[in-house]
Amino acid sequence: MTDHILIERPETAQQVQIIRFNRPEKKNAITRAMYQTMTEALKAAEAAPDVRVHAFLGTEGCFSAGNDLADFLAFAMGGNMGREVFDFLVALASTKKPVVSGVDGLAIGIGTTIHLHCDLTIASDRSLFKTPFVDLALVPEAASSLLAPRVMGHQRAFALLALGEGFSAAEAKEAGLIWKVTPPEAVEAETLSLAAKLAAKPPEALRIARDLMRGPPDAVLDRIQKEAEHFAAQLKSAEARAAFEAFMKR
Ligand code: COA
Repeated sequence: MTDHILIERPETAQQVQIIRFNRPEKKNAITRAMYQTMTEALKAAEAAPDVRVHAFLGTEGCFSAGNDLADFLAFAMGGNMGREVFDFLVALASTKKPVVSGVDGLAIGIGTTIHLHCDLTIASDRSLFKTPFVDLALVPEAASSLLAPRVMGHQRAFALLALGEGFSAAEAKEAGLIWKVTPPEAVEAETLSLAAKLAAKPPEALRIARDLMRGPPDAVLDRIQKEAEHFAAQLKSAEARAAFEAFMKR
């Protein structure tokens, strides 16, 4: 457990479980312990009959700056990668209950790719979506190499995942990565209102509709595995280590 992730059940939407990034002093960068807490929370909520919807939120001005680069550097220096990231991605891709997310501000790396697994995402007009994987000598993760081209077409996905272009909220909406853009102060209320609406639907009908729309998760799970193998190999590369060290020394 870590208090860098808060698990909440909002007053206004009791059947919604919020997973909130809560490490604002590090721009909500995600550590191994945070992934583990999120995996446990997702699994617990999937098994809990009184939870009908998962919601991801961050803090004011920041959803998440992505994976903790100190953890990446530790691995690049010969440390143990652990299973935490992989287990989280598998749990996320295997959810049977709807997932919503609300973004205000920075959404970097997995802070962007997580929304490819969400059913509805709200973002504030000051949000920035960016995945500097290749700039860090890494490769796309979270099955984004499969899901992003599906959602937004090859060229936009390439601009996001390979060129490392930042997408504004308006561009992310146009690309189909998110559903709606709101002012910053409305993100949480809108996200929770959507979640509450979903929670009030007949759950079995909603589950079937979602399953039909998403299709079987096999190809997504295979891609998560394949990307993880490349990712682990690249993390050990000299070019990746140089990129992490450069960030740490800024
Ligand atoms: N991992 C670890 N620490 C991170 C981090 C990350 N991904 N992102 C931010 N931080 C830390 C910074 O090191 C800094 O810590 P410090 O105050 O102890 O020095 C703190 O969070 C604030 O970040 P800072 O860079 O000062 O804020 P900023 O507003 O100038 O820039 C970002 C924000 C997100 C643009 C910048 O921090 C960044 O590029 N982070 C890395 C993003 C990234 O590459 N993620 C991995 C994707 S695979």
